[in-house]
Amino acid sequence: MVAVVALFSDEYQADPHPALAGLRRSGPVHRVVSAADVPFWLVTRWTEARQVLADPSLSKRQPVDGLPQELQAVLSTQLLLRDPPDHTRLRRLVSGAFTPRRIEDLRPRIEQITDRLLDGLSGAPEVDLIDALAFPLPFEVICELLGIPAAERGSFRGWSNTIILGDFGSADLAEAVRELSQYLRGLFARKRAQPTDDLLGALLAVDGDRLDEDELISMAVLLLVAGHETTVNLIGNAVYLLERWPEQKRRLLDDPGLVPAAIEEVLRMAGPSAMSTYRVTTRPITLGDTTIPAGEQVLISLLSVNRDDERFADPDTFDPSRDDGGHLSFGHGSHFCLGAPLARLEGQIAIGRLLARYPDIRLATPWQELRWRPGLLMHGLTALPVRVTSRP
Ligand code: HEM
Repeated sequence: MVAVVALFSDEYQADPHPALAGLRRSGPVHRVVSAADVPFWLVTRWTEARQVLADPSLSKRQPVDGLPQELQAVLSTQLLLRDPPDHTRLRRLVSGAFTPRRIEDLRPRIEQITDRLLDGLSGAPEVDLIDALAFPLPFEVICELLGIPAAERGSFRGWSNTIILGDFGSADLAEAVRELSQYLRGLFARKRAQPTDDLLGALLAVDGDRLDEDELISMAVLLLVAGHETTVNLIGNAVYLLERWPEQKRRLLDDPGLVPAAIEEVLRMAGPSAMSTYRVTTRPITLGDTTIPAGEQVLISLLSVNRDDERFADPDTFDPSRDDGGHLSFGHGSHFCLGAPLARLEGQIAIGRLLARYPDIRLATPWQELRWRPGLLMHGLTALPVRVTSRP
């Protein structure tokens, strides 16, 4: 089924689900025109999404011609945007740091940071949970893991916010990438002179399959940005869903063992990554009864495919006991999210500790008035004002 739809209205930003449900009903794949009049194909059903993500003939390369030089360097050398054999080589270099076992070793440190941040909620009449917990937790963890000194992290939130908006044509984005690259070049020089025991130190010390300077910068930018811009929304969206489904929140309070399953259900119903699965066809592919020619851009709406009623019974119901592991919020196939074990652990600790220490947490604003971040890539709240009264 081919349809021309516009996905850039304020109404869509406020609540994309009615429009996505309409698209799913009319077919698995749709012809869409972006705000900048660029045509692409949007996949809205789960089966076809898996098919696209599992198909090695689709490429991740993005056209970079005409973009500022620093931005070209970061995009053309980036793990997320490369195909084999470079993708395989780059992924192998970092994957050892993100195995479930290595990430589990971080548990005590993540709990410590979470508890310190949660101390800050006590006694405050109203706090923005994004500022107080959802942003600083994954941000501190990824900075520590990479080895970004604490005193030098001040500019990162602004840079990564600009980068995640994803408008490659914008001067702000090019400037943010230039400044961040410049900072990283200086940091690498210092780490080369004085080796450090962290992930960037380890990448700088690699022999043989070594990364060149552009690849190093690109990897650091990707890990920094992907390492927190998504998880901030996982934590924020989890609190939001629990406030909208109070009986499920009560279940979690009674049985904290359900928290990991609840995090999976948050990923399914309100996954942080709305459409970040970009691919380009290198040969014609057939999805349902639509054939997409070679050389076309394909995007998967993860928000949509995770609510496909052909895959999930009652898809608009938040039900932590569903626990069937079928969501595609971390992608699928060779580009499956490298940080999934870290994101899961951070989400589980953040929500588990938050409910244990502040079981009476509640929204300070009606949920209808909460604002969602602009742009099609990320699905998360700009702010999450809450009140807590119990003392830890
Ligand atoms: C890839 C989502 C957290 C690092 C991906 C992809 C998705 C995703 C959908 C695949 C994109 C595609 O196939 O085109 C998420 C979500 C997260 C999260 C929803 C949080 C809830 C993290 C964290 C890190 C991370 C914490 C790093 C520490 C990466 C990297 C890739 C990736 C490096 C590229 C993998 C590759 O191309 O081989 N992520 N991510 N992510 N993610 Fe995540």
